[in-house]
Amino acid sequence: MDVVSIIMRMTNECVKYIIILFTAIILLHSSFLNKTVFCQEIPVPVESPSCTASDCHVDLMQNAFLHDPVKEGNCDMCHGELSGHNQNPGVFKFQEIDDIGELCYSCHDSFANRPFMHGPAESGECTACHSPHGSPNKYQLMDLGSDLCFNCHDQDIMSGEFAHGPADAGGCLACHNPHSSDYAKNLRDEPPELCFSCHNNKKKELEEAKIIHKPAADTCVNCHNPHSNTNEYMLSNKVPDLCFGCHKKKKESVQRAATKHGALVVGKSCLNCHDAHASNIANRLSKAPLDLCLGCHNTSVKTDAGIMLTNMKELLEKNSSHHGPIKRKDCSGCHNPHGSDEFRMLKESYPSTFYMSYQEGNYTLCFKCHLKSIVQDPSTFELTNFRNGYINLHFRHVNRPEKGRTCRACHETHASNFPKHIRERVPFGNWEFPLNYIKTDTGGSCTPGCHKVKKYDREKEVINK
Ligand code: HEC
Ligand code: HEC
Ligand code: HEC
Ligand code: HEC
Ligand code: HEC
Ligand code: HEC
Ligand code: HEC
Ligand code: HEC
Ligand code: HEC
Ligand code: HEC
Ligand code: HEC
Ligand code: HEC
Ligand code: HEC
Repeated sequence: MDVVSIIMRMTNECVKYIIILFTAIILLHSSFLNKTVFCQEIPVPVESPSCTASDCHVDLMQNAFLHDPVKEGNCDMCHGELSGHNQNPGVFKFQEIDDIGELCYSCHDSFANRPFMHGPAESGECTACHSPHGSPNKYQLMDLGSDLCFNCHDQDIMSGEFAHGPADAGGCLACHNPHSSDYAKNLRDEPPELCFSCHNNKKKELEEAKIIHKPAADTCVNCHNPHSNTNEYMLSNKVPDLCFGCHKKKKESVQRAATKHGALVVGKSCLNCHDAHASNIANRLSKAPLDLCLGCHNTSVKTDAGIMLTNMKELLEKNSSHHGPIKRKDCSGCHNPHGSDEFRMLKESYPSTFYMSYQEGNYTLCFKCHLKSIVQDPSTFELTNFRNGYINLHFRHVNRPEKGRTCRACHETHASNFPKHIRERVPFGNWEFPLNYIKTDTGGSCTPGCHKVKKYDREKEVINK
């Protein structure tokens, strides 16, 4: 044996040992650190029940909710013939799934049978919400409640201080269909029906009411945000601005009015008198007009100008003879409930003072319902009972170029205990003097602070001294 052959043998032994060592390292390394490669090293028989029975994809089976074909081990139904994968385990490759939607629809009914498709359902991104294999949630959902939706949608819709019960609780699906729907915004139904499905009371309320506010009959989301908002009841704006958003003319007239009714700014503003949804009273008032008004005017209310107004409830209770429109419970026959340019928010002109030079236009309010001829013709046998013989005393008192007495000199507009709404007392500056009116069958008399007793008689003219 020469030196060369000795060296050769030693080298061969070395290589042998190096190879043995190398194989051992690879085996050790594979079995402890890389199960997948190990798995590849030991080919799975083609007829093996599934990849999940081995250590490979066992995690797929560890979900509470498994997709049926996964549970059955039918991986191939989606991934195609796995023989390639199994026979050539070194290459972990299964059939590409390029259209997930189409794949799912190969077993499931298509959702494209309805006109409104949810974005991801339409584009076949089924796996944005469902795991194809399994998940801890029912329907193999990736997340629960609104978390699922907020993976894509802005959470801001729930940032309002006042949140809607079902949306706040993550019940987005109570109103939205995740796939497709017959209604826009993939709603399960259209408001108001959608809303009535939970708010049966509102449905009943609207069905039973004679007058329904048009926007409430149309769609509740005209005023309510279905998710959340910064205003109470998730209203899209605060009352009265909510109302003014549609009632633009009312906004202009209220803003323009010289006197704006305090009722619009105290309490619930417009809702002090109107129901937002429906009612049985004309103009959708929440109570009969008179009851509404007396709800606040049951005390002496103070105006912006600092005047203490008459307690109207008390006045009506203490004075039994009510003026015609009040008998009909209609305060707005004379007053504009929102405000007006006229004195005391009256609908038409009426003097604010005790004396006023006569002009027909000053009494438009009274002449809306009463004949103006009662104060226009100097003499009459029929127009008015307030006459002495044929002398028209209405004309005498009222129809004067100077110091014409306004109706308030003798009549109390709301109610009185005297016939013909004659006042008990007459306001004169800061003083009130009694009128002492006595009515007779054919005339009457009074003894006010401004003159001695005066009588009138329609049949036989009285000569007052
Ligand atoms: C209903 C069809 C379907 C079935 C059945 C199915 N898969 Fe899948 N699998 C998919 C889809 C789709 C993807 C791709 C996921 C994606 O793109 O979000 C996928 C992805 C995978 C992946 C890649 C990693 C991952 O999780 O995304 C593995 C591994 C896998 N599947 C293994 C299996 C095994 C093992 C089975 C059988 C137990 C199986 N699959 C059954 C549809 C299916
Ligand atoms: C090979 C047929 C097949 C394919 C492909 C398939 N599924 Fe399924 N899927 C089923 C079967 C079977 C069930 C169980 C029976 C059932 O509830 O309809 C099921 C159940 C479901 C369920 C649960 C239904 C329930 O009522 O609990 C969801 C969700 C689902 N599949 C989503 C998908 C999605 C998403 C895809 C596409 C990634 C898909 N499926 C692809 C066969 C399939
Ligand atoms: C935005 C999330 C989302 C997407 C995208 C989505 N799903 Fe769903 N899917 C759900 C939710 C949530 C449910 C639970 C049932 C419910 O409330 O309607 C569900 C239920 C199901 C069901 C069982 C009940 C039923 O309605 O038949 C099947 C099957 C299903 N989805 C298949 C699919 C398929 C197929 C696609 C893709 C075309 C898909 N889903 C896309 C969220 C989604
Ligand atoms: C994978 C992302 C994704 C998920 C998850 C998702 N959406 Fe969507 N959603 C979209 C896309 C994209 C559109 C279409 C956007 C568009 O048309 O402007 C859409 C549209 C909508 C629309 C209609 C919007 C419109 O203006 O017409 C509603 C409502 C909606 N999603 C509700 C939901 C609800 C509820 C959930 C949870 C169950 C949800 N989405 C989960 C992506 C998603
Ligand atoms: C009480 C029913 C209801 C619930 C619960 C609900 N929504 Fe809506 N959602 C609606 C209605 C109604 C619309 C349409 C609003 C409109 O037309 O102004 C809508 C519209 C949407 C839109 C379209 C964008 C928009 O504001 O117009 C998205 C996105 C949306 N909802 C997501 C959600 C998510 C996410 C949830 C859960 C956190 C959810 N919704 C809960 C009724 C609901
Ligand atoms: C899935 C059932 C459901 C649907 C659908 C639904 N709501 Fe609601 N709504 C509720 C629950 C629950 C509350 C919380 C009740 C409570 O706090 O007393 C609520 C509260 C409200 C409130 C506040 C009531 C209060 O007293 O604070 C308003 C306003 C409202 N919903 C309007 C709507 C409108 C408008 C729709 C239709 C777009 C609608 N809701 C659809 C269940 C529903
Ligand atoms: C014109 C605007 C408007 C419309 C349209 C509207 N609401 Fe309202 N809603 C309001 C206002 C204002 C309130 C607050 C009432 C209050 O403070 O007395 C309210 C309160 C509510 C409340 C809680 C208090 C109560 O009355 O029970 C519910 C519930 C409600 N609305 C449901 C609905 C439903 C359902 C619809 C559709 C049929 C609807 N709303 C349509 C303005 C509206
Ligand atoms: C989305 C628009 C809209 C909003 C907001 C709205 N209204 Fe209306 N309102 C209408 C329409 C439309 C009518 C019917 C007008 C007609 O028939 O001439 C109406 C009619 C009325 C009537 C007349 C009586 C009736 O029912 O026909 C009153 C009173 C009224 N609204 C008060 C209010 C009050 C108070 C608010 C605020 C709480 C409000 N509205 C908010 C649209 C709106
Ligand atoms: C003090 C009670 C009261 C308040 C507060 C009130 N209203 Fe009225 N409203 C009435 C009465 C009474 C009528 C019937 C009017 C008539 O007979 O002249 C009416 C009629 C209406 C009408 C229908 C007829 C018309 O005049 O156009 C609308 C619209 C209306 N109100 C809107 C509003 C709005 C908006 C608000 C809040 C800014 C409001 N109301 C506040 C008592 C009120
Ligand atoms: C919610 C409470 C409230 C209701 C309801 C109410 N008022 Fe008033 N009213 C006030 C307040 C506060 C004032 C004082 C501020 C002002 O001058 O407007 C006032 C003032 C008045 C004035 C004097 C206005 C002036 O300044 O000259 C008249 C007239 C009047 N109301 C009539 C009515 C009539 C008619 C009704 C029924 C349609 C009614 N009010 C319902 C609160 C109310
Ligand atoms: C026939 C027309 C008419 C009717 C109807 C009417 N008012 Fe008046 N109201 C007036 C006139 C005119 C004045 C101014 C009285 C005065 O200064 O002499 C007035 C003044 C008022 C004042 C202010 C009183 C004060 O102290 O200055 C209030 C408050 C008032 N009315 C409330 C009501 C209420 C509430 C009703 C319904 C119960 C009503 N009015 C019905 C014509 C009417
Ligand atoms: C909205 C209509 C209306 C307006 C405005 C009105 N009245 Fe009258 N008035 C009536 C009715 C109705 C009667 C009751 C007639 C009857 O009982 O025969 C009446 C009765 C009277 C009576 C008693 C008549 C009788 O025979 O008993 C006097 C006085 C009177 N009004 C004065 C006035 C004065 C003053 C004004 C203006 C400040 C006024 N009215 C404005 C409708 C109105
Ligand atoms: C100086 C006091 C006085 C003044 C001012 C006055 N009235 Fe009279 N009015 C009476 C008396 C007294 C009667 C009752 C006559 C009778 O029946 O004997 C009366 C009766 C009436 C009647 C019942 C029908 C009739 O003519 O007999 C009406 C209506 C009436 N007044 C309206 C008015 C109006 C409107 C004004 C203001 C434009 C006014 N009055 C101003 C004293 C007055």
